[in-house]
Amino acid sequence: MKKRILLSAMLAGAALAISPSSYAQDNVFKIGLILPMTGQQASTGKQIEAAVRLYMAQNGNTVAGKKIELIIKDDAATPDVTKRLAQELVVNDKVNVLGGFGVTPAALAAAPIATQSKTPLVVMAAATSSITQASPYIVRTSFTLPQAAVAMGDWAAKNDIKKVVTLVSDYGPGFDAEKYFKDRLAFNGGQVVESLRVPLRNPDFAPFLQKVRDLKPDALFVFVPSGAGAAVMKQFLERGMDKAGIRLIGTGDLTDDDQLNDMGDGALGVVTSHHYSAAHPSAVNKKFVEAFEKANKGMRPNFMAVGGYDGMRVIYEALKASKGNGGGDALLAAMKGQIFESPRGPMFIDAQTRDVVHNIYIRKVQKQNGGLYNVEFDTIKDVKDPGKAK
Ligand code: DHB
Repeated sequence: MKKRILLSAMLAGAALAISPSSYAQDNVFKIGLILPMTGQQASTGKQIEAAVRLYMAQNGNTVAGKKIELIIKDDAATPDVTKRLAQELVVNDKVNVLGGFGVTPAALAAAPIATQSKTPLVVMAAATSSITQASPYIVRTSFTLPQAAVAMGDWAAKNDIKKVVTLVSDYGPGFDAEKYFKDRLAFNGGQVVESLRVPLRNPDFAPFLQKVRDLKPDALFVFVPSGAGAAVMKQFLERGMDKAGIRLIGTGDLTDDDQLNDMGDGALGVVTSHHYSAAHPSAVNKKFVEAFEKANKGMRPNFMAVGGYDGMRVIYEALKASKGNGGGDALLAAMKGQIFESPRGPMFIDAQTRDVVHNIYIRKVQKQNGGLYNVEFDTIKDVKDPGKAK
């Protein structure tokens, strides 16, 4: 343990001492991805790795005359490990860009290393609003919880949902979802009567759901991270909450495409707000879903996959535009302001905030082509992160 602390202190020192120009290696461009490949968030790592490999298969591994080298490290969504891996990738492997970051604490742990070493860091998964403010080298291709939660606060109020209990995972994105949903619902004349927070690690939803039942709200609004939605759905249905007249709503993390088809017909009719559905009806998305499923034994891409796929697009195009010259600062400059059609729909990297601007869709779980999908039925166009408005 002591040895590890000493080593990371040394690496932190080395990161400070390294000048960005020493990163330049003539013919190779290194992308260092830190992802949760094991542990509770492993589905995020699996989805993003698959999407990144698909992007490379479709777009080649030579860009601006440089060979792209991909290095993937598993942090099991543990921030101490993320930090050490980020230091090692920058100092030892001399990566040109960092990417991935399955959870908010991991992205925040790596942020100072991006700043110190002037290495662009592309957040492909984590979604707490404040992340992009943790370093001027951070660019985000996932989404923000305030984007999704505000849309749900509008939809709920318009659909006779006035009295709501919120249930969120007890960390950054949960706090964002809770606050932005609550404030927006109140603005629209509704009310959050109770805000419940469940532990991120191994949550037991049962006692919380019992409390919700007793409070008899019109709806329960849920945010849990990708991979945890199926457990909430199961316990919600087992307790007969739907039959007690309590509607289930949330951000789209709840009806995650990675799990949705296994949730069963009890999930039918659940309405959520999000930036991506595998059922998004565009030609670009149809092509993406087909290719992704073909390359991954039928696995359906979820919103994490899209964050990874678009993250690679942002890196490739920035490398092309900067012609591989100018180091991290030139690469970062070429990431800002990119505008393109993602499988999610139109997407834009705001040059001021380095955050993603995209449509938020209201979706309902329905049966389509024999499977359960989040079918989009309303669109809020070009949504900027409400967390940056102040
Ligand atoms: C975060 C993680 C998730 O899996 C998700 O769906 C949303 C946000 C996060 O930690 O930021």
